[in-house]
Amino acid sequence: MTNNPGPSGSMASNSGPASPGDPGLSTSLLSLRGISKNFGAVQAVENINLDIFPGQVTALMGDNGAGKSVLIKTISGIWAPSSGQMFWKGQEVHIHTPRDSEHLGIATVYQDLALCDNLDIVQNMFLGHEKTKVGLLDEIKMELTTKQTLADLSVSTVKSVRQLVGSLSGGQRQAIAVARAVMRDSQLVIMDEPTAALGVSQTAQVLSLIKRLAERGIAVLVISHNLNDVFQVADRAAVMYLGSLVSSGPISNYDTSSAVELITTGESSRVPPTIVAS
Ligand SMILES: Nc1ncnc2c1ncn2[C@@H]1O[C@H](COP(=O)(O)OP(=O)(O)O)[C@@H](O)[C@H]1O
Ligand SMILES: [Mg+2]
Repeated sequence: MTNNPGPSGSMASNSGPASPGDPGLSTSLLSLRGISKNFGAVQAVENINLDIFPGQVTALMGDNGAGKSVLIKTISGIWAPSSGQMFWKGQEVHIHTPRDSEHLGIATVYQDLALCDNLDIVQNMFLGHEKTKVGLLDEIKMELTTKQTLADLSVSTVKSVRQLVGSLSGGQRQAIAVARAVMRDSQLVIMDEPTAALGVSQTAQVLSLIKRLAERGIAVLVISHNLNDVFQVADRAAVMYLGSLVSSGPISNYDTSSAVELITTGESSRVPPTIVAS
């Protein structure tokens, strides 16, 4: 935790265009104001106000269908928002394609990880961004960069970067997907359920990887169903219910039972009212 997000809890009561004195905008890396996305008549996410801070892990929670994946796909440029504004370091930005979000420094690790099993680790790390030297692939540079990135993240369980990704364990695959994301100088790493398919020790590895990203000043937005994971790793929490963000704030404002209440009913008597949205 390197940045103090200030006293603001949720920005949930602040709807519509951001006001000039909006405190979240001056300290956040990414701020969403009034973001909505509908698919025809289906309102998937509605009027989302959320601040994401550098060096902090924000856990995005919510039941199935709450709108978590649609929200991160909107930040990643897969869906353009139907309405609302996004601010990157206080400046309004328009993210309409995955390239737009990549250019800003947003990297998203989707649930399926989008790795190619029949390629090795180095090839996966540079897929679509291959380094060349006089027209040929610069294998040496790509291999060294891969090794360095994994070492920087203290990923020590991989024996060889020339191993096929199909032969890796779930935790190792997750680590490669994250390493690929941070190798591109990402400032915000978004992860959709990174531990869902993992066993106990692999989960611990991925959680410590998430912490190391934050220690490096990267903002991490992590979707998780697992409250143990959330309370181990998150600095802040955000809870969605039926497409709305019903609560957000420092993780210390929550405990397991209030988080469960918010996830299942959209409200909690145990969370201070200042951080519960109307
Ligand atoms: N491509 C789509 N077209 C229509 N409706 C969608 C689409 N993607 C998601 N939805 C709807 O949006 C809502 C939120 O979905 P989603 O974000 O996937 O939930 P979560 O990730 O929280 O489980 C759901 O009602 C879902 O059916
Ligand atoms: Mg989802």
